[in-house]
Amino acid sequence: MRYSRIAGTGSYLPEKVLTNADLEKLVETSDEWIRARTGIERRHIAAPDETSSALAEHAARRALRAAGMTPADVDFIVVGTTTPDRIFPNTGSLLQQRLGIHGCPAFALETACSGFVYALSMADKFVRLGESRCALVVGVECLSRIVDWTERGTCVLFGDGAGAVVLTPADEPGIIATHLHSDGQYSDLLYFPYGPSQGFDRLRAGETGGIAMRGNDVFKVAVRTLSRLVDETLAKNGIDKHEIDWLVPHQANLRIIQAAAEKLDLPMEKVVVTVQQHGNTSAASIPLAFDTAVRDGRIRRGHLVLMETFGGGFTWGSALVRY
Ligand code: UT7
Repeated sequence: MRYSRIAGTGSYLPEKVLTNADLEKLVETSDEWIRARTGIERRHIAAPDETSSALAEHAARRALRAAGMTPADVDFIVVGTTTPDRIFPNTGSLLQQRLGIHGCPAFALETACSGFVYALSMADKFVRLGESRCALVVGVECLSRIVDWTERGTCVLFGDGAGAVVLTPADEPGIIATHLHSDGQYSDLLYFPYGPSQGFDRLRAGETGGIAMRGNDVFKVAVRTLSRLVDETLAKNGIDKHEIDWLVPHQANLRIIQAAAEKLDLPMEKVVVTVQQHGNTSAASIPLAFDTAVRDGRIRRGHLVLMETFGGGFTWGSALVRY
């Protein structure tokens, strides 16, 4: 039996920082409200000439270095992103071009905040089937580009960033299992209102618009769904919740993360929380948090890690990983 394992991790946050105090000058909000309701203290904003593929390149190069590999070794690229550089070419191909490699499959998938877990699941299958020996998996977002900066209910939440892992073949897992889900019936609770086939007419007509979210409704479905997802992941893999060393959740809201930790009986010291540093970076948030905890020595080889995510679609999913 062949498995995949995470050989290296990397992440990148753009230089510019936007604090809660900065936002107080933009919209009717307060540092106190943002911290109390979300846990967020600051977020990073990509420079005007920095695109998602540029952020992804930094994270990818760091992950390759950590894995002791070079771009020339990469034979498969998958990028989860809601904010591609362009409609096409896809961000995977643009990343491939930045890395100076040619010919291997490269693509992007858009499942909002679940983008990284979906991408990890795809790459895992290619490695297991022997079709890849060095798969680059990236989650990246430039959400600052699609936020309505006059809308306090959303603009305080999101940020830009990238995270990556390199998957290589292994005799033992590695990626033990991934569980992916979607339910389109909630598409009006969290969405971006414009797109290529629906049209940009309203935008062209001067209407402002950005990520639209019925936050409180999303919150309730997220907590309920993540609770079921944790049960499913443990049951299908015959794992007792006390065996989990680290929870690496999607970083949207500290209160949602705390609810998931309670469900697992995990003290918060066993949960990787980075949301305060970069806000909700959607597809980038799990690999960013994972890389942070690997590099600061919390997550070590042999640890059992549960990743879980929930986002627009709705889409949700988990990955059970022996690092
Ligand atoms: O990543 C994908 C999944 N996304 C999520 O998981 C996000 C889920 N939702 C959330 O994290 C939370 O619902 C929010 C952080 C978005 C909002 O927190 P909440 O506790 O659900 O607040 P709320 O939406 O019920 O709003 C409470 C009040 C409202 O005022 P009234 O109607 O009670 O007078 C809002 O207008 O807070 C007001 N409010 C704000 N006040 C200050 C909304 N945004 C702000 C703001 N600053 N930025």
